Amino acid sequence: MPDLLLGQTLRYTGDPFLEGPGAAHHERRGAVLVEGGRIVATGPADQLRAAHPQARVHDYGQALICAGFIDAHVHYPQTAIIASWGKRLIDWLNAYTFPEEMRLADPVYARTIAARYFDLALAHGTTTACSFATIHPASVDAFFTEAQARGLRALTGKTCMDRNAPAGLRDTAQAAYDDSAALLARWHGVDRLGYVITPRFAPTSTPAQLDAMGALWAAHPDCLMQTHLSEQTEEIAWVRDLFPQARDYLDVYESFGLLGARGLYGHAIHLTTRERARLHAVGAGLVHCPTSNTFIGSGLFDMDGLRAEGQIVGLATDTGGGSSFSMLRTMAAAYEVGQLRGRALHPAELMWLATCGSARALHLDDRIGNLGLGMEADLVVLDLASTPAIAQAAARAETVWEALFPTIMMGDDRAIAGVWVNGAPYRPAPQST
Ligand code: GUN
Ligand code: ZN
Repeated sequence: MPDLLLGQTLRYTGDPFLEGPGAAHHERRGAVLVEGGRIVATGPADQLRAAHPQARVHDYGQALICAGFIDAHVHYPQTAIIASWGKRLIDWLNAYTFPEEMRLADPVYARTIAARYFDLALAHGTTTACSFATIHPASVDAFFTEAQARGLRALTGKTCMDRNAPAGLRDTAQAAYDDSAALLARWHGVDRLGYVITPRFAPTSTPAQLDAMGALWAAHPDCLMQTHLSEQTEEIAWVRDLFPQARDYLDVYESFGLLGARGLYGHAIHLTTRERARLHAVGAGLVHCPTSNTFIGSGLFDMDGLRAEGQIVGLATDTGGGSSFSMLRTMAAAYEVGQLRGRALHPAELMWLATCGSARALHLDDRIGNLGLGMEADLVVLDLASTPAIAQAAARAETVWEALFPTIMMGDDRAIAGVWVNGAPYRPAPQST
């Protein structure tokens, strides 16, 4: 039996960075018809109710139904060390991150953290995450097993490191290749899961390991590849010392076959003109992690300039370098970073980044990230009056954007009125007839 969700609806017919807010279609009393895990119709509530009298109705009232949030760069193993005080990137990795990632050598602990991560992500309306794991193959198994149990579309890969990390968190070039290849064979394309080839970043891989990762990607070109790029100035100077022959940071990746359209480059803040041109030429995905960039003190991503030159950009929490599991909070931080660079991002752009933009960077925009016909029914329902502070601000709204913006800026998991995963309610949906 089909399910009919009623409420305000928001979907995109284009890119609001190019077309303005008119790229979004808002229905004040809309409906989404879901059957067999897919979106099979959208439109005015009256029309869809009349056309589908047999459907089970879920009336969300004034809440806003949109595509589930897509977090394009997260470290699920860092769930328990989120909000750790006082360090910049390299010290933060050594003081907090590496000791915690070491604990995921225990497969039982890895399962516990993976389950905790997905429960938190779903509570915040995130229905797809592209995560780093740890160097331990069992950390990849844990993530995929917990995603599969929840019916989620999810992505991860073994995080490869063979230098500049403590003993116990280092593999070798050969082990990185072999373990990654075995995990890829086990998980890639199973249910809604995708394997991502994952060299952590240039400083923690030898040239031999980067070469091995490039060879693995060449052998599996349908896989995504994810890493970090130009997050902090100290990191960039370190890369220059480690790879003196490279023209710049991106050139390290390119010289080992790690630059391509299916490449995801987290942070990408301090880019040279040459790097921007190369990223654009290959159609790579840049992933903006604004709460991380302010929390670790990394810098201000050039959203306006990068989108204007046609770069592909997704949005992400970067938990636990990022300080939140919430893509609403992440949109708020993207807005604040934009303001510090002199460009106020429109709510239509912020919501697009958290859904369509991330989906496009992950090459999944034909399946998730929008209320399109035939797309997978991963949905979030937003209560636009979830706290007294938000409700009193939204009460004055004359447009959907004015109604939504207080939730973007001040909302958290209390704003999540419903989550649907693959066409089924993740929490009990309100029933009515
Ligand atoms: N660069 C390399 N590893 C990491 C990480 O775990 N988090 C962040 N924010 N940057 C990184
Ligand atoms: Zn990261």
